[in-house]
Amino acid sequence: MKETVLAAATVFVLIQFIQPARNESGQVLDSDISKALDVPERVQGILARSCFDCHSNNTHYPWYTYIQPSGWFMAYHVRNGKDKLNFSEFGAYSKRRQGSKLESIGKQIETGAMPLPSYLLLHGNAVLSPSEKELLINWATDSRDSLATNH
Ligand code: HEC
Repeated sequence: MKETVLAAATVFVLIQFIQPARNESGQVLDSDISKALDVPERVQGILARSCFDCHSNNTHYPWYTYIQPSGWFMAYHVRNGKDKLNFSEFGAYSKRRQGSKLESIGKQIETGAMPLPSYLLLHGNAVLSPSEKELLINWATDSRDSLATNH
């Protein structure tokens, strides 16, 4: 029993040395969504609070992500999330891709698939209220419509 506890404690200490790389560029690129589309301040604030951790080049890392394995899970989400949708590079997407991502944003929010439910357990402040969901969905729909008419 004592050996098991000691072994588990040793593993826990050792994995702390394996820190994943951090996703924090500290920059707002020219391709940022705020420069590509009309993003009202309130929408920008909600995206930053609830989505940017996994869908931009700048993740905000709470203290527990410095403790493994929680930092590994975060790094995994960030890698997958950015792969699918990166708000820092949104402006570099083709108009067609921008349109399909906007459509997907509306759908993901509507179904409650995003923000990732598992992430919300620890990031309570990223939970979207019903009115915030409506605001984001309307914004995504309007932005998509204006892309379609302008191009
Ligand atoms: C904890 C990390 C995390 C947060 C926070 C998060 N996402 Fe995601 N998101 C992901 C991951 C991971 C995927 C890829 C899921 C997959 O492949 O099944 C994804 C996929 C998506 C997709 C699908 C993209 C595509 O190719 O169709 C959209 C749209 C999306 N997220 C929007 C959002 C929005 C909007 C928010 C904020 C309201 C948000 N996400 C918050 C991690 C996150």
